[in-house]
Amino acid sequence: MTEAKRLAAEKAMDYVEDGMIVGVGTGSTVAYFIDALGREPDRIKGAVSSSEQSTERLRKFGIEVLDLNATGPLSLYVDGADECDTAKRLIKGGGAALTREKIIAQASQRFVCIIDPSKQVDVLGRFPLPVEVIPMARSLVAREIVAATGGQPVWREGVVTDNGNWILDIQGLRITDPVAMETAINQMPGVVSVGLFARRAADIVIVGGETPRVF
Ligand code: 5RP
Repeated sequence: MTEAKRLAAEKAMDYVEDGMIVGVGTGSTVAYFIDALGREPDRIKGAVSSSEQSTERLRKFGIEVLDLNATGPLSLYVDGADECDTAKRLIKGGGAALTREKIIAQASQRFVCIIDPSKQVDVLGRFPLPVEVIPMARSLVAREIVAATGGQPVWREGVVTDNGNWILDIQGLRITDPVAMETAINQMPGVVSVGLFARRAADIVIVGGETPRVF
């Protein structure tokens, strides 16, 4: 699937305009996108990054990383996903960067999601749903998740997010109403964010392949 990721990322360059500030996600697919940006680093004004990992890669290419508070709304956000349904709703956070990714997606006019074909699903939930939690609330949130969703939260032990928090991955879900589940989990005290991108779904999805599929 590596080649499909690269092809999706390169296709996303069609949406990059000269002088833009580009929102940049996190992960192996986005790494290819950063590499593509890095081949013409002066074409864009800079980037807003969703993780320390992406920041490091952007800076290696001499691309300036800007603060979202200073840039204001962005025209374009490019990011990958762990799952994507036909309505462009996503599960994200496999790389633990979900909170900053969600912030940048919300601040952007257009969210272009780049995936390989294996990420496409009819119903979200096969990929364990990541939830970023404040450390002291881990057990509380886990109990609330079991009661509210019937899924099984598993602590991603040893992983600390860029915001200093922990991740629970909810297994065994079949998410037939992603907006309702996103809203319910968001409301639990101690939850920082949930990796369901349904209220703010992608605008455009690029599925990598010889001829990338765009929908
Ligand atoms: C990171 C993410 C990534 O977009 C997601 O995990 C996909 O990663 P990859 O492109 O490596 O398959 O949400 O938090």
